[in-house]
Amino acid sequence: MAEVHGLRATTAGSVPAVAPKLQAEGVGKVFTGRGRDPVTAVGSIDLAAGPGEFVSILGPSGCGKSTFLYIAGGFVEASHGTVRYDGAPVEGPGPERGIVFQEFALFPWKTVLGNVTYGLARQGMGRAERNERARHQLEMVNLGGVEKLYPKELSGGMKQRVAIARTLATDPDVLLMDEPFGALDAQTRAVLQIELMSIWERTRKTVLFVTHSVEEAIYLSDRIYVFSHRPSRIKAVIDVELGRPRDRERMLADPAYPVLHRRIWELLREDGSDDDAP
Ligand SMILES: Nc1ncnc2c1ncn2[C@@H]1O[C@H](COP(=O)(O)OP(=O)(O)OP(=O)(O)O)[C@@H](O)[C@H]1O
Ligand SMILES: [Mg+2]
Repeated sequence: MAEVHGLRATTAGSVPAVAPKLQAEGVGKVFTGRGRDPVTAVGSIDLAAGPGEFVSILGPSGCGKSTFLYIAGGFVEASHGTVRYDGAPVEGPGPERGIVFQEFALFPWKTVLGNVTYGLARQGMGRAERNERARHQLEMVNLGGVEKLYPKELSGGMKQRVAIARTLATDPDVLLMDEPFGALDAQTRAVLQIELMSIWERTRKTVLFVTHSVEEAIYLSDRIYVFSHRPSRIKAVIDVELGRPRDRERMLADPAYPVLHRRIWELLREDGSDDDAP
């Protein structure tokens, strides 16, 4: 265990002291298709995220991170095991769990405002109220004044801001985020990480965040679950005890940071991951 300037990490992993918001027990997924060999996308995953916690998932490409997140979102049915939200088994999508997909997944035929109000309209909210809510969310992700534009008129960073605003607009209790910044350049990614941290500090939603970046996971998370290669299981659970609000420069200058980064990187390398070389 390393401990310098408040940055501390253990691989024991802390279980939330209070009842978890989201809890996975022995969750696995086998995809079967006619004429195709079954694919075990997720082996057996145990994971918990307490109220207001920021929890990340790291793991090699193809180990089942997206599949696991879709199961937590209720979009894919687990082959075995259970995901619970507030103690009740997840049996489908619900407004309390908002998802930001690996690709931006905006509706190209809708304007920015149309995209952000989509979920609210489906919930039956009136036009004036949903437009007001959407404008507020767009401001929250620093994207005022672009309501009338279409996705093709936006940069990658702007599209991702719209996708986040769309998910936040319905005010979910839990945010499921699948590599939301993976397709962005390093600078935009850093800006959006800071924005996400600031939104999270203000709203204290429970976040389950999939990433390929060890640095991003350390910077954002209270706890990191490292998945093994497919069929995935939990390889390590790492508590990141770094004060909040966080400062990237301070984190990078902390002598404990490279120690933690290397340890996580080595866990991933054992599994043949080629992501995010140190
Ligand atoms: N609908 C599906 N039908 C069959 N196989 C699938 C399906 N969805 C995913 N898979 C397979 O399950 C495995 C896990 O896929 P998944 O997308 O969950 O991985 P991942 O960890 O998110 O990968 P990446 O880091 O590249 O995003 C892969 O082998 C993939 O081909
Ligand atoms: Mg994925």
